[in-house]
Amino acid sequence: MTTNKVRIKEVGPRDGLQNEKNYISTTDKIAFIEKLSETGLDYIEVTSFVHPKWIPQLADAVDVLCNLKRRKEITYAALVPNIKGLERALQVHIDEVSIFMSASEGHNLSNINKTISDTFPVLKEVVEEARLNNLAVRGYVSTVIGCPYDGPVKPEQVLYVVDHLIDMGVKEISLGDTIGVGVPTDIERLLEVLLKKYPPYLFAMHFHDTYGTAIANIVKSLEMGILTFDSSIGGLGGCPYAKGASGNVATEDVHYLFTKMGKQTGLNAKKLLEAAYFIESKLGKTLNTKQLAISRSE
Ligand code: HMG
Ligand code: MG
Repeated sequence: MTTNKVRIKEVGPRDGLQNEKNYISTTDKIAFIEKLSETGLDYIEVTSFVHPKWIPQLADAVDVLCNLKRRKEITYAALVPNIKGLERALQVHIDEVSIFMSASEGHNLSNINKTISDTFPVLKEVVEEARLNNLAVRGYVSTVIGCPYDGPVKPEQVLYVVDHLIDMGVKEISLGDTIGVGVPTDIERLLEVLLKKYPPYLFAMHFHDTYGTAIANIVKSLEMGILTFDSSIGGLGGCPYAKGASGNVATEDVHYLFTKMGKQTGLNAKKLLEAAYFIESKLGKTLNTKQLAISRSE
C-alpha cells in the first residue's frame, strides 16, 4: 500500500545550534523549541548531552528540558554519546535518545574521540540501559557518503555500522550526509545496498546542504521508499568536528517540496516561517533558505 504521509524530524535546536558561536540563552532556546512545537511537528531533537567542553552551546541541556513546556503529542529527543550522557538525559525524563557514530574512522575519531570498534561497546551499554528505562533509541550513522578526513565512504562501510546498531536494538537509523557531498546517484548506490537487507521504514535520511543537493537527494530517497527525513528550521546546522559541514536542509523548504508533491507533512508553513524568523533574530544573522527569501520579497 502506498502512503502519502511523510515524517519530518526537526533537529534545529540540536544540530542547528551546536555549531553557532553566539551563545543563545536558555530562555531563547526554550522559546525557539516552543515556537517549533506550534508548527505541527511531532518530533523535535532539542539538545544534546555530550561533553559541555566539546559543545559549549548545548551545555544547558538539563535546564532546557527542565523548563520546557512539553506537549503530549511531541517526542522531545536528545543526543547522547555514552552512559554519562544517558544518565543526564534520564534525570530530565527525555522522551527518546539518539546515539551517534560515523561510518568513517577519521570522523568518528575527531567527533567522539574513539575508533569505530571501540565505539560499539560504549553505545551497546547506552542502548541496554535505555531499554531498562523503557526509552526508545535512534541511531545516527554519520559520513555515509563522504568523510572530511578519509574521503569517499563505501556503502559496505555504512552497512557494517548499521548492522551493529541494529543488533544493539536501535529502532531507527538516521543516515547522515554530514558534509553534504552526496548527489542522487550516491544515495541510490547506498540505499540499494542497505535496502537489500533491511526494510525502508528502518531508515531516516539526514542531509546537510553544502552543495545544494539535499532536496534532490530527498527526492531520490523518497523514490526508494524512505519516508522519514531530518531537517533544521532556517537551514541551521553543521558539525564542528567535520570541516566544511554546512547547514541541514531547511525544514520549510522540505515542507514546500513535499506539499507540492502531494505528500502530507502535518506542518503549517506560516508557523514554520515564524519559528525561522524568531531564531534568525536571536542569532543576529540572515538565514538564506528559499522559503525565507520568498517571504521577504512578498
Ligand atoms: P572523551 O573526552 O573521550 O570522554 O569524550 P571520556 O569518556 O574520556 O571522559 C572524559 C571526561 O568527560 C570525564 O570527566 C567524563 O566524566 C566526562 P573527568 O572524569 O575527566 O572529570 N564526560 C562527560 N561529561 C558530560 N557529559 C557526557 C560526558 N562524557 C564524558 N556525556 C565524548 C568523549 C563522546 C564525551 C566527547 O567526544 C563528546 O562529547 N563529543 C561530542 C561531539 C559532538 O557532539 N558532535 C556533534 C554531534 S554529532 C553530529 O552533529 C552528526 C549528526 O548530526 C549526524 C550527521 O550530520 O551526520 C548527528
Ligand atoms: Mg547533522
